[in-house]
Amino acid sequence: MKGLILSGGKGTRLYPLTYTLAKQLVPLANKPVLVRVIETIRDAGVTDIGIVVGDPTADEIMHRIGNGDAFGVKLTYIKQPSPDGLAHAVKISEPFLGDDRFVMFLGDNCIEGGIHTLIRDFADSAWNSQIVLKAVENPRSYGVADLREDGSIRRLIEKPQDPPSNLALVGIYMFDSTIFEAVNAIRPSKRGEYEITDAIQWLIDHKRSVFPYVHGGWWYDTGKPIDMLEANAAVLDELRPDIAPDAEIVNSEVDKRVTIQAGARIINSTIRGPAIIGEHTVIEDSYVGPFTSIYHHVTIKNCEIERSIVLEETSISDLPARLHESLIGRKVTLTRNNTKPNAYKMNLGDNSVVRVD
Ligand code: G1P
Repeated sequence: MKGLILSGGKGTRLYPLTYTLAKQLVPLANKPVLVRVIETIRDAGVTDIGIVVGDPTADEIMHRIGNGDAFGVKLTYIKQPSPDGLAHAVKISEPFLGDDRFVMFLGDNCIEGGIHTLIRDFADSAWNSQIVLKAVENPRSYGVADLREDGSIRRLIEKPQDPPSNLALVGIYMFDSTIFEAVNAIRPSKRGEYEITDAIQWLIDHKRSVFPYVHGGWWYDTGKPIDMLEANAAVLDELRPDIAPDAEIVNSEVDKRVTIQAGARIINSTIRGPAIIGEHTVIEDSYVGPFTSIYHHVTIKNCEIERSIVLEETSISDLPARLHESLIGRKVTLTRNNTKPNAYKMNLGDNSVVRVD
């Protein structure tokens, strides 16, 4: 059994963060989503993994993730020349996958633990494919499954106007080599992409065995800021708290469900969990509330922040109100203007969103 992770795409819905950062590298609880995907596949016993990358993020992903040694897996990068869809990504991965059965994950998807057995079951079965479904509130944004009363699949439709059910296709799929016949047979969709949903429908139409599994736990496609914050909260909720031996906690109140990473310093502050404070980050005279992830080398002074994600090397100080539901990029400076005139001074990138009181 092999693994295939699709990690292309521009991440336009996460602008401005993704002008300079691949969406799969945005961290949830201080670990990039893509690393979480690699670890999920590895934990199912699959260690030979291909990663499909594309411009403009290919180099950054290869540089940051490396050859897989750090995660106990062997990674092979497959360059997709143009963003022609998920089924196209499968097609160009045939030389890597060969005749092996494989599990395919979208590199920006995050799912609650416990799917290892599902992957093992498929590895040992004779099914041609297994798909994972999840009941969602907005099925129009996804591929949607129409199931018969006996639970078998009648039809799959990509982003339907009029969804036949609320069961979305989660970005996790399992295939054997018959999928190559399907991806070579289908035509591009209305959005000009070779859709994996259409390829699976081809398998169904040609009497191949495709089994649906309905996932009961949480699942996030971290494509939008609000999903990112929700996914961060869910992952933090599952995290086993840990305080690094060399973390310094001085005159502070730190909740049980807080992780403090190596070299971090917490001074005159209160941290309420679940939360994570990254390596060499300093929190001083501040309040960090639940569901917050502060990445490494960040400074937070005289501020309140909750339900937010702050990326590396950012500095936040002296804010007059609490930061809430915020996604803040790398090397950002956010502070109070103490000089007259009393005005906002901003230096924001394209597509930034700021809400002030
Ligand atoms: C893709 C698939 C869709 C699936 C979704 C899951 O959509 O085409 O069927 O439900 O991933 O995240 P996309 O993210 O390309 O819009």
